[in-house]
Amino acid sequence: MIIIALDVDSREKALELVEDLKGKVSYFKIGMQLFNSQGPEIISLIKEKGVKVFLDLKFHDIPNTVAAASAVAVRQGADMFNVHASGGEAMLKGAVESAKETAGKLNLKEVPQVLGVTVLTSMSQEVLTRELGVNKSLDQQVSDLAVLCRKAGLRGVVASPREVSIIRKSCGPDFLIVTPGVRPSWASRDDQERVHTPAQALALGSDYLVIGRPVTAAPDPREALNNILSEIP
Ligand code: C5P
Repeated sequence: MIIIALDVDSREKALELVEDLKGKVSYFKIGMQLFNSQGPEIISLIKEKGVKVFLDLKFHDIPNTVAAASAVAVRQGADMFNVHASGGEAMLKGAVESAKETAGKLNLKEVPQVLGVTVLTSMSQEVLTRELGVNKSLDQQVSDLAVLCRKAGLRGVVASPREVSIIRKSCGPDFLIVTPGVRPSWASRDDQERVHTPAQALALGSDYLVIGRPVTAAPDPREALNNILSEIP
């Protein structure tokens, strides 16, 4: 139930973290920082260690382009990847259908999981209303976008722990909810504003916790991960 965010520039550091932490982690997340510095081959280098990869590039473009990019992500070995829910239903369906079709052509045992990003957790009600012109509460917007993702066939969404209960209510028990912004009680908040402990996020109904710096920037990442796991009932 843990996803480790490999937010580092260096290939050596990323591979060292994977080697140190594998076995206790469900997915290793490659975001824009690592992908842009190391290129797509970082996916296969990490997968050679026998672990699963979540490619966090948040695709958002016209449906044809997102479908094509999704096929490439699946060919490169992503086990999970994400798209912006605000790209609309045709774009979301394009990603899901392309992932299924490519997985079929490659005879993959499992179709990679496609997740939607609803409203970025860095965005406030003020920004949503004044800058983007969305005349709904932030919670309603998150819920509506999660429902759209579900309708389009996505496996789940990435959301803040504070939005988990509203998404559970609108999308049901089988929809995956992946939550960043998780901090063990002993760790620094860094730049995360609204944080929950791992136990709180799981109690709210989160399926996977995305954890970066509390583990990756710790003097002993393996010990930090063990401490987090020991906090989870
Ligand atoms: O280091 P930290 O635990 O804050 O890392 C959280 C990870 O989750 C980062 O990779 C960040 O990009 C990602 N994330 C987030 N908030 C979101 C979406 C993704 O912090 N709304």
